[in-house]
Amino acid sequence: MNPLLILCIPLLLGQTGPEPARRQDPLARDPYVQNVTPTALSILWETHGRETCSIRLRSLVTADAWEQASGPGEHHEVRFEGLVPSSRYEYTVTTGSGPVTDVVRTAPGPMEPFTFLVYGDTRHGHGIHRQLVRVLEFDQASFVLHTGDFVDDGLKKSNWYRFFTISNPLMRRVPLYPTVGNHENAFERGLELYRRFFAVPDDGPQPEVVYAFTWGNSRFFVLNANKPFVGAPQTAWLRTQLKEAAANPQIRHLFVSVHHSPYTSGPHGPQQELLDSGLVDDMRRYGVDMLFAGHDHMYERGRVDGLNYAITAGGGAPIYYIKHNHPYSLVTEPTYNYARVVVQGDLIEFSAHRMDGSLLDYVHLRRQKPARDTPPRIEVVREYRKEAPMVPATPPPAPPPFSSLRPDPVSAGDDGFPWLFTGLLAMAAGLAGLGAWLGHRRRRR
Ligand SMILES: [Fe+2]
Ligand SMILES: [Fe+2]
Repeated sequence: MNPLLILCIPLLLGQTGPEPARRQDPLARDPYVQNVTPTALSILWETHGRETCSIRLRSLVTADAWEQASGPGEHHEVRFEGLVPSSRYEYTVTTGSGPVTDVVRTAPGPMEPFTFLVYGDTRHGHGIHRQLVRVLEFDQASFVLHTGDFVDDGLKKSNWYRFFTISNPLMRRVPLYPTVGNHENAFERGLELYRRFFAVPDDGPQPEVVYAFTWGNSRFFVLNANKPFVGAPQTAWLRTQLKEAAANPQIRHLFVSVHHSPYTSGPHGPQQELLDSGLVDDMRRYGVDMLFAGHDHMYERGRVDGLNYAITAGGGAPIYYIKHNHPYSLVTEPTYNYARVVVQGDLIEFSAHRMDGSLLDYVHLRRQKPARDTPPRIEVVREYRKEAPMVPATPPPAPPPFSSLRPDPVSAGDDGFPWLFTGLLAMAAGLAGLGAWLGHRRRRR
């Protein structure tokens, strides 16, 4: 391939250069849905100035309607309670700039099947993220789990506004459950915006960051890999939560999301402190169906002593290469990707897809109903298996090793500046090389 064409790929994908002309959007953040349960949901939005707004929720099944006011203020968050499970509701947010309307659905009861999507590491890959949102919004899934690194710098409002603008076509209809990454947690202060923009259960040891939620017959646990694990509050909390959930007959599946994976073939390497804490052994003991992670920008699925894990970190940030070839790693691919999980009774069907929707991996798992006092077992019904992971002959430079206290080395600010800078640098190097070669030829003549 022409090297100049390779250099232009990020430009073609829209990762650099000015943002295409935005529609005249009067709101800083368009309305989106959060923290959905079978009987409640929250709608959030943000106005540019202090405003008093109104919101109306109307059942599409019955004639019930509710109206609430919000403000005066810029950030608006309204919760509706007393709703009916698995039912559609239309909301209309009215601000000084006019009304915005969409339809949301409450969470199902424990008997109903559902689908959720998983992706992560969007950061400054706006073009990829935008394309991915287009794919995801047509899936009609119940909710989305993000594995972290939403933005380059969690301290910058402009980064967050870009994220919410791109993901709004999805988030205005389905709730997105966040996992905090190292880029959001920039020196802890980044969490102020993170907590304001996401509304999730706040009864964990680190409210709205370490939390759990229930959807159908499944319980989801979200951890903070920027905080310690050994002897830490989140470790004790998850142990208790797993024990309670495993004993609850209405809960058939357990899922954990943490930004840094305890197992990975990528260059960042495993989160050793999580392994040292013994928490991964507890996940195994209580029968966690799958652990989701991000941070190493690629796709990977594996199984270690019965514990299934998947890294889906291809939401827009630059893709890494596969560094290791671990026997426990079953499928790896350095590509933009997302995962899709269908939960039906005791069965879960997990599949992973590339940007164009093509199938990258799948596994069907069944949770074996344990007899009294015996540990649950996750049975593999069938699965895809790639025999050899793809390892490029000339991999791109490796990022520095994982540090739980520092953000990723590429902190681009906004607009994908490093891509542009790197592209121009590579172009200059290419032109210099061409000049040297032509000079050499001229001298030989
Ligand atoms: Fe990342
Ligand atoms: Fe990360």
